Amino acid sequence: MSDTPNTQLNKQLFGDDFAWGVSTAALQIEGSCDADGKGPSIWDTFSARKGKIMNGDSPSVACDYYQNYKRDIDLVKELNIPNYRFSIAWSRILPKGEGEVNQAGIDHYHKVIDYCLELGIEPWITIYHWDLPQALEDKGGWTNRDIVGWFTRYVEICAQAFGTKVKHWMVMNEPAVFTGAGYFLGIHAPGRMGLRNFLPAVHHVVLSIVAGAKTLRKIVPNAQIGNTFSCSHIEPYKQTPKHIAAAARADALINRLFIEPILGLSYPTEVAAIGKMKKYYKPGDEDNMSFNFDFIGLQNYTREIVKYSFFTPYIGATLVKAENRKVELTDMKWEVYPPAIYEMIKKYNAYSGIKKIIITENGAAFPDVVTNGDTVDDPKRIQYLQTHLQQVLKAKQEGYKVSGYFVWTLTDNFEWAEGYHPRFGLVHVNFKTQQRIIKNSGRWYANFIK
Ligand code: NOJ
Repeated sequence: MSDTPNTQLNKQLFGDDFAWGVSTAALQIEGSCDADGKGPSIWDTFSARKGKIMNGDSPSVACDYYQNYKRDIDLVKELNIPNYRFSIAWSRILPKGEGEVNQAGIDHYHKVIDYCLELGIEPWITIYHWDLPQALEDKGGWTNRDIVGWFTRYVEICAQAFGTKVKHWMVMNEPAVFTGAGYFLGIHAPGRMGLRNFLPAVHHVVLSIVAGAKTLRKIVPNAQIGNTFSCSHIEPYKQTPKHIAAAARADALINRLFIEPILGLSYPTEVAAIGKMKKYYKPGDEDNMSFNFDFIGLQNYTREIVKYSFFTPYIGATLVKAENRKVELTDMKWEVYPPAIYEMIKKYNAYSGIKKIIITENGAAFPDVVTNGDTVDDPKRIQYLQTHLQQVLKAKQEGYKVSGYFVWTLTDNFEWAEGYHPRFGLVHVNFKTQQRIIKNSGRWYANFIK
C-alpha cells in the first residue's frame, strides 16, 4: 500500500502512558438474558422477530459470559492486556429501565469489576452500548423526551455503585449507529424508521449524553469521562462538485452529527433535514448540549466512497459498496483501508474542544478456520491490526493527541443484525461447546504489548 508508513512497529514508540486495551459489550457476550431479575432489552425482543438477525441467531446465550466472566477475564490477563472496556446492561440494573433497582444486577458488575482489579486489569466502563430496556422502548424509547431523566437516573445508580472502583467511563457507544440503524433505517433494534423517529432520538441522545456526563462528573469528580464515536473516512466518488457535496453531506451524518453539538458547535447543517431538529428543542436545550469530555473514544474500521444520488431521500448521496470496488474486504464487506484511521485521528484532532483521543475500537472480522483442534491461524487479522497501528503511530508522531488503542474484540461474539457469522475476536469461540482458542492474532497482540 502506497501510504503505509515504513516505521517498524514497536510498543515503546507509542510511549509509556499509551493505554493498550480490548473492548467488549454486554449484549454481545453475556447471554443469560433473563437471569437474576434482568428485564428484556430491545435486542432480546428485536432478535426474536423473524428475519431480523442473520441465520435467525439470538443473543440469549452468546459467549455465556454472564455465568463465566472469569474465564474470559482470565484471557484478558493471559493476553497481557492492561485495560479492559466492557458495558453494563441497563436492564440488569433497572429491569424496567426506571423504578425499582435490581440489587442482583449491581452485585454482578461488582464481581466483574473486582475480578479485573484483582488481576491488575483496569476496568473501563461503557454505560450504554445499545441495549435499551424494552419497557422504555414501549414508552417511545429514545424518541420520548422523558428518556433524558430515565437515563440520568441509570447513570446516577452506576456512578454511585461503581464510582470508587472505576476511573474510566464512557457514557454511550456510537450514538450515530444506534440512532441511524435503530431509528432511521430500522435494521437494528428497535427497528423503527424515518425522520420522525430519527430526529427526536438524535436530540434526546445528545441531551442524555451530556446529562449523563454531568452526573458522572458530580458523583465521581476524579473520573476520566469520555464518549465513543463511530467514524469512517469519506471520499467523493469523483472530484466533481455534485459528488464532493454529496460526500460532505454523508460526512455530516456519519462523522459530525453528534460530536459537533457536544463540542458546543451545534448540529451540522449540510443535510437540510437536520434543520428540522429544531422542532424537538425545548427552551434552554442549547445550554445542555455540550460537555467538556476528558477524552473522546474514536472507533474506525474503514473508509466510504460517496456518490451523488437523486434517489436517496434527505441526503442525496449513496455509498459505493466496497464489494463493487475491487478492494480487499473483511467479512463485514468493509474495505480494508488502514489510512482511514490516520485521517480520522487528524480530523477529530482538529476540533479544539477535544483534549485526548483514544481508539476505543478497531479490528476486523475474517472467516477463521480451526486446525488440529487448537489453532486458529489468522494472518489477515494480524496484518489488519499491524497496518492500523502503524497509522495510529504515524498520527502520534505527527503530534496528534492519540493516547490509547483498544482492539475490537476479545472473543468472537454476537455481531448485532449479522449474528454470529462475523468473527472479530482475538479469541475463537465454538458457540456449541463454548470452547475458547486464542487465535494467532491474540498471541501476536499479547506479545506486542507485553
Ligand atoms: C461497533 C460497535 O460498537 C460494536 O458493538 C460492534 O460489534 C463493532 N463496531 C463491529 O461492528
